[in-house]
Amino acid sequence: MFAKYYVTKFVSKIKAMAEFWEESFKDKKEMWGLEPAKATVLIKDFFVEHKIKNILIPGIGYGRNAQIFIDSGINVTGIEISKTAIDLAKKHFGNGLKIYHGSVTKMPFDNILYDGIFCYGLVYLLNRDERKKLIQDCFDQLSENGFMVFTAITKDAQTYGQGTLISKDRFEMFGGVKIFFYDRETIQEEFGNTGLFEVTLVTENYPFHLIKCKKIL
Ligand SMILES: C[S@@+](CC[C@H](N)C(=O)[O-])C[C@H]1O[C@@H](n2cnc3c(N)ncnc32)[C@H](O)[C@@H]1O
Repeated sequence: MFAKYYVTKFVSKIKAMAEFWEESFKDKKEMWGLEPAKATVLIKDFFVEHKIKNILIPGIGYGRNAQIFIDSGINVTGIEISKTAIDLAKKHFGNGLKIYHGSVTKMPFDNILYDGIFCYGLVYLLNRDERKKLIQDCFDQLSENGFMVFTAITKDAQTYGQGTLISKDRFEMFGGVKIFFYDRETIQEEFGNTGLFEVTLVTENYPFHLIKCKKIL
């Protein structure tokens, strides 16, 4: 009885998340342009330097962060909840880019081990349990000595504290999107057991922590 209640609640939350992004992409299409984000350019150099050849991008959107890796000889696979975003990615970047349609909460989508994972603009949109699962699932899909990199919005963002407080440092805003704002402490708490070795800052439209982890067995 209780299990059924929680499964139903979980499924409706995923549906609401999918609808929010589906509507956003239908309405605003390529809303961040077609150029890669600043963090992507930095991580492309980092991956090339470490001879990374096969990467996974959870929450790939319409693919603006994929091409720069592909141009550097890196194979890219994505995961994306919005079908409209996937169609936009196909339009701009062709069928060569494989994207699984679904929620990252359903990872893994394949049994491949990737030597790099780049998760831009996603982890902070999830709740605590979903963040924990995403981070662990990414770590599990990394090959030995592989790197995973996440961007996470910081508490210095202008939007920190705006909207409705849902839980500590998590707010509902912008017509329904929920955002968890990270600090050094919560980064350590959530990434500390999955090879965390470096946190730097990068400023895009918001200030982001750039979180790097390495899988050493
Ligand atoms: C802030 S956007 C960033 C998009 C992309 N990384 C970029 O920078 O262009 C978040 C992306 O994650 C996707 N997304 C949100 N929740 C998701 C989930 N649970 N599973 C898979 N993708 C999700 C959204 O549809 C959207 O494309």
